[in-house]
This record gives sequence, structure tokens and C-alpha cells, in this order.
Amino acid sequence: MTRLAGKRALITGAARGIGRAFAESYIREGAVVAIADIDLKRATETAQEIGAKAIAMDVSDVSSIRAGVAEAVSELGGIDILINNAAIFTAAPIVEITEADYARCFDINVKGTLFTMQAVADHMIAEGIQGRIINMASQAGRRGEPLVAVYCATKAAVISLTQSAALNLIGHGINVNAIAPGVVDGEHWDGVDAFFAKYEHKAPGQKKAEVGAAVPFGRMGTAEDLTGMAVFLASEEARYIVAQTYNVDGGQWMS
Ligand SMILES: NC(=O)c1ccc[n+]([C@@H]2O[C@H](COP(=O)([O-])OP(=O)(O)OC[C@H]3O[C@@H](n4cnc5c(N)ncnc54)[C@H](O)[C@@H]3O)[C@@H](O)[C@H]2O)c1
Repeated sequence: MTRLAGKRALITGAARGIGRAFAESYIREGAVVAIADIDLKRATETAQEIGAKAIAMDVSDVSSIRAGVAEAVSELGGIDILINNAAIFTAAPIVEITEADYARCFDINVKGTLFTMQAVADHMIAEGIQGRIINMASQAGRRGEPLVAVYCATKAAVISLTQSAALNLIGHGINVNAIAPGVVDGEHWDGVDAFFAKYEHKAPGQKKAEVGAAVPFGRMGTAEDLTGMAVFLASEEARYIVAQTYNVDGGQWMS
């Protein structure tokens, strides 16, 4: 399988979880991959294990984004595909949300997505690269949740940014789309489970079991369940797809 042969991909937040699975799937399809993460130690270990380049990048800091994108261009020789995957989760009742928590979540999930798109689009336009940008949204961006106001709002913003950026960049031959996962097992959801244990007084692991049982498919997703869509959106077969957000969620959300 070499659907991405010769392609150069930058994936943020790929030291672990879904981003790591994306990186592995892209390498299997023939791409060379740089994984950019705030956790450089873990990114370096992952890069060594899967055969990628590791780059230090804090997507909440525009100067760090610019430096990281420049390093990826230098390491890979250019960027044909960007996956904006780095994000954090937060949860609290409305009356307990703090300004600091709000700012951190929006800085990483929204500002990070926008300015990483900008830095990579800048490079693609300058080099005449008809590239692909894939943003990680979420079912949380489709509707609010009682304890998840801030994270849900950031993912709704990612869906909106995907639409606007796509309409602006398709004139340069750059396709922008997004993936909206449902509930995906892994370290991220261990953190989510801990929030619900606190606020809904559940036993550790209870929320995970409940959300998995509620998925029409019958279980939580795995990172590998998402790789097919990530490869497809980066492939030639997806050339006419613009400004879309695709649910890959075992049937949780229908749109
Ligand atoms: N896991 C799920 O159930 C789920 C559901 C819907 C959407 N998503 C989205 O999918 C994406 C990946 O999720 P995941 O489950 O792999 O999460 P994860 O928490 O396992 O991985 C996120 C990665 O982002 C990195 N990161 C955090 N802050 C960063 C920053 N400021 N700069 C650079 N990197 C940073 C972390 O170090 C980590 O490696 C995220 O956008 C998430 O919102 C996940």
C-alpha cells in the first residue's frame, strides 16, 4: 500500500495516541513523517520506534509553531500534508470554569489549529504545493455537553475554522477537511474518565465503560479505527473533497 508515496507529512501531537497511529499509517503508505509535540522526550521515543522525525513544538505559541514548521520543512524537504491533531481536554461545571483553563484550552485547540494551518499554508503557497490539511475536530464540536463547555466550544471552532480555511485555501489547490471522532480509547480518555469520576462521582473506569456501551457499533473506538479516514483525506482519491468534517465514531452522531 503506497497511497502516500513521496508525500511529506507533519502531524502535531503525535507523540502518543491518535496522532501516533496516524503517523504509523502514513509511514505504511509510503510517506515520510515529522511528529511535532510539546513532549519532546516522548516524541523522540515514538519517532525512533516508528521511523519518523521528532520536532519540539508548542502549538499554543505562534513563534514555536513557526520554528517547528521551519524545522519540519528542513527535515523533510517540504510539507505536503498537515494533520492538526494536538489538543487538550478539560471539563468543569459552568460555575467552576476558570479563566486560565479556558485560555489554555482555546490557545492549544483553536489558536494552535489556526496558526499551524497558517504557517503550513504559507509554505505550501510559496512552494506551489497542492497540499492537504486535516484538522481534528470531535463529536464534542457537534453539540454541547453539561460538563464540557470549553472543550466542546473549541471543537466547534475547529469545524468552523476548517470551513473558512478550506474556502480560502482551495484557490491555491490546498484541500482542508476535518475528522470528528467519537470516543477513542487511550491515555486521552483516561484523563476524561478522571474528570467524570470527580464531577459525576463515578468509580474509575465507570464512565469509559458507559460511553463504550452507548456507541451503536458496540465499543469505544481505537486510534487505528481512524487511520483509514486520515489516509483517504490525504490521498488523491479525496481531491474533490473540500471543507468537510467527517464523523468516524461508530454511529454516535449522524450528520
Ligand atoms: N480520544 C478521544 O476520544 C477523542 C475524541 C474526539 C476527538 N479527539 C481529538 O483527537 C486528537 C488526538 O487525541 P488523542 O486521544 O490522541 O489525545 P492525547 O491526549 O492522547 O494526545 C495529544 C497529544 O498532544 C500533545 N500536546 C498537548 N498540548 C500540546 C501543545 N501545546 N503543543 C503540541 N502538542 C501538544 C500531547 O503531548 C499528546 O502527545 C485531539 O485533537 C483530540 O481532541 C480525541
